[in-house]
Amino acid sequence: MDLDTLQQQLDEAASQAAAAAQAARTVEELRSIESRFLGKTGPVADAMAAIRSVPPEQRGAVGQLANRAKAGMSSSFQARHEELKRAASAGEQAKAALFDPTLPGPVVPRGSVHPVTAVQWEVEDIMARMGFVVVSGPEMESDYYNFEALNIPAMHPAREMQDTFHLENGLVLRTHTSNCQVRAMERFGAPLRVIGPGRCFRYETVDASHDNTFFQLEGLLIDRDISIANLIAVMKGLLQEVFSREVKVRLRPGYFPFVEPGFELDMSCAICGGAGCQTCKRTGWIEILPCGMVHPNVLRFGKIDPEEFTGFAFGLGLTRLAMMKFGVADIRLLNSGDIRALTPPERLGGPVVANCTATR
Ligand code: DAH
Repeated sequence: MDLDTLQQQLDEAASQAAAAAQAARTVEELRSIESRFLGKTGPVADAMAAIRSVPPEQRGAVGQLANRAKAGMSSSFQARHEELKRAASAGEQAKAALFDPTLPGPVVPRGSVHPVTAVQWEVEDIMARMGFVVVSGPEMESDYYNFEALNIPAMHPAREMQDTFHLENGLVLRTHTSNCQVRAMERFGAPLRVIGPGRCFRYETVDASHDNTFFQLEGLLIDRDISIANLIAVMKGLLQEVFSREVKVRLRPGYFPFVEPGFELDMSCAICGGAGCQTCKRTGWIEILPCGMVHPNVLRFGKIDPEEFTGFAFGLGLTRLAMMKFGVADIRLLNSGDIRALTPPERLGGPVVANCTATR
């Protein structure tokens, strides 16, 4: 074999390999070029294969030429490989530099809150502006705060009004938020303005308008010279804000042992404006707020002198209010865990717009 010719061929192949490596744009492209030159069918492999067919004294020289060519090509590929890797990571960095963390992220659906929570927050805001502070009472309550201190002694027929869950530990599940009345009096004394929203429980047969678990919001104001006129003013202010419209209210006598006198406060129907519709059973009025002037006995239980202080209390049915405001026809939907019952964000804080349309 003519060793000079072989050398020339291999040199040429090496310079072709170097040019091709330089032209490669990606590591993958470079790999395929590499296998073309250094693989089993490439010029180096051909030279190696020729070793077997040359005379023994030439074998060493052919092998050397082949190995030198292989080393030269390998180093061209290696160098280009480094370059491409560096370029790729610089590209990543440039891309990273383009990332602006102050831009808004991808659009994801907004979360929302339960209709009862939405109404609770709204009422809390309104009442806070009138100087009321939010308090909470325990859901598992003693007979004392749930009944006794509210002028409902054991064996009093008024206990019949509230079907009660009695627990094995001697406590009850509170039947109303009124349990926070005497607790607040004991804790803060008079004068006092508090609201106590929360979950209540009654041993009820569940149907479209009754559930064993529901929400109320208790209100209690105690000060000097408080009269029914103050009660009406605060209730009217609250309802007008909740329904975003002028409302009329009227009082009818109602019996609750912890108030004297006690009332059922009705408001002009927010759906028909008082003309009469299905929601108000054609009366033009909706029964919305039981309330009254705090009974002197209850003030005494709370260590407040009824000669010096008077006050009013009310028990707003938050669940019922949410149903009216958001047009929920079936109370069972609200505790069902069905997320479709959540308040659409655009309805949060808006005025009442629909009547009892949602169904289970
Ligand atoms: N706690 C009563 C109930 O659940 C509602 C109530 C009536 C609360 C009159 C009051 C009130 O504060 O004055 O039936």
